[in-house]
Amino acid sequence: MIDLNEVDEQVQKLIICVKNDTIESLKQPIKVDEKTGRKDLVTTVDKHNEQMLVDALRKIIPDSQILGEEGFGDEVKDLNGWTWIIDPIDGTMNFVMQKNNFAIMIALYHDGEGVLGYIFDVMNNDLYHGGPAGGVFRNQQKLKLPENISLKNSLIGISGPLLIENKYNLQNVARVSRGPRMYGSAGIEFIAAMNGELCGYVSYLRPWDFGAGKILAETLGLVVKSIDGTQLNMLSSSVVLVATQRASQEVIELAN
Ligand code: IPD
Ligand code: CA
Ligand code: CA
Ligand code: CA
Repeated sequence: MIDLNEVDEQVQKLIICVKNDTIESLKQPIKVDEKTGRKDLVTTVDKHNEQMLVDALRKIIPDSQILGEEGFGDEVKDLNGWTWIIDPIDGTMNFVMQKNNFAIMIALYHDGEGVLGYIFDVMNNDLYHGGPAGGVFRNQQKLKLPENISLKNSLIGISGPLLIENKYNLQNVARVSRGPRMYGSAGIEFIAAMNGELCGYVSYLRPWDFGAGKILAETLGLVVKSIDGTQLNMLSSSVVLVATQRASQEVIELAN
């Protein structure tokens, strides 16, 4: 029998250790490699963090599988049993270019259902955490569902490539809103939506980009879906929308 309070305590300790290592790493030059090209980077810190997370999470729930961006986890084919979904640094480009606006993310699913989510906004030292059993917290403070604001009266996060290429009519979505914003880290944009700074966020994302954010945002009462209005598949890439109820209906209508 798994004690989720115990798991939560251990994961919070772990993510603080990974955050401390990450901050320490910023004091020295960081080794950066290109993955698929100059806009897709990986650093030794991404790899170090993922290895550290994988080693520790395997001990926290021994009978679990781990899906991680940098490939140190398992080849996850289904979500049966306990599954961790991890992003060791979300916003690697920001990490390299800005040393700011990046996150560390961990999600725990059981038989496909979200149980616990963690997004650490490293440079603000804010840990967003929680899940359906206990609600969502910023550090010790419990968060409330942001106002059900409409697209017309708010800012919306849209990822650069989708907006530049006008995928899903997103330039019109931006026009209808008070203005588009682009933070370059899915985790930081989920946080902005949960804090009510954005009415929503749209981006092409992979499971480790939205695994934790989906648990936290849905627990708060925000909508997290595919841009066509269907449910997300946790094992594949999608154009993901997180938004207030009202903005989600408006964006889905304009985008399809
Ligand atoms: C990226 C960031 C970015 C999003 C990309 C992701 P990474 O994650 O979240 O905001 O637009 O799609 O791949 O690679 O820096 O972990
Ligand atoms: Ca990511
Ligand atoms: Ca990453
Ligand atoms: Ca990456």
